[in-house]
Amino acid sequence: MPEVVTTIAALRRRIAERRETALREGSSDAPASRVVLVPTMGALHDGHLQLVAQARGLGGIVVVSVFVNPLQFGPGEDLDRYPRTLDSDVTRLDGLADLVFAPSATEMYPDGPSETRISAGPVAALYEGAVRPGHFDGMLTVVAKLFNIVAPDVAVFGQKDAQQVHLVGRMVRDLNLPVTIAVVDTVREKDGLALSSRNRFLDDDQRLAAVALSQALAAAAEAAAGGVDAVLAAARARLDSEAAVKLDYLVVVDPDTFQTVDAGHHGPAVVLVAARLGSTRLIDNERISIPSSS
Ligand code: PAF
Repeated sequence: MPEVVTTIAALRRRIAERRETALREGSSDAPASRVVLVPTMGALHDGHLQLVAQARGLGGIVVVSVFVNPLQFGPGEDLDRYPRTLDSDVTRLDGLADLVFAPSATEMYPDGPSETRISAGPVAALYEGAVRPGHFDGMLTVVAKLFNIVAPDVAVFGQKDAQQVHLVGRMVRDLNLPVTIAVVDTVREKDGLALSSRNRFLDDDQRLAAVALSQALAAAAEAAAGGVDAVLAAARARLDSEAAVKLDYLVVVDPDTFQTVDAGHHGPAVVLVAARLGSTRLIDNERISIPSSS
């Protein structure tokens, strides 16, 4: 079972000890002392385990943080109902993680909510950020704190949260943070629904309807030869066919800038979708390529 650590001081101590041991015992095997961080908010599902398995595959000391970060939840969002399942999370990490960092909110924010925050910039006001003002500043602030606490060589994130991945990458480059970001593909249910801690809130009918998101993205990818408008129309048609799915946004963005592309765009793009099913909000995305002949 991974060792659970709840304080910053103990975590730093345990990482230093493990690093020293790895260096002593495996001096010819440099990756053994590499620290790989997988930041999570717990309620781990197979998608998270895939991130941790990839982290394990990189070699070294695997640290999984489990912290429901109040800073990234707005008023009226689901902070209180966000599932907290530390015991089963730790069990699921058996054989995959070395250390689980599960601090309290007071350990992370001893002076109350951080007054100093990372400003995530203009992209943070778009898409998820438009619906969740302040979310990305709060997310980047805790990620920056975790990078400072753990000092990882590599940090692993899931492509499912595409805008988050973009903003973390941008923060790392803008602030010269000494960490490499590894991105792992979205893990899906058999019918295509992207795994998410929020899926558990869907009732049976909503669960059936939720497949429209991934099917809309598949339709978008198939329509890529017709250009951006065809991509949007194909996705929209599938989403509109499901009355239970209330669309928040559907956009095609440039993978480098995360700005929406114009109708004549060709080359790589990412289709982002977010929708509500009852009170549960789901997001998904798909990388596509729009041929120049379109
Ligand atoms: O993706 C998440 O679960 C969170 O946004 C993260 C990266 C753990 C920061 O709280």
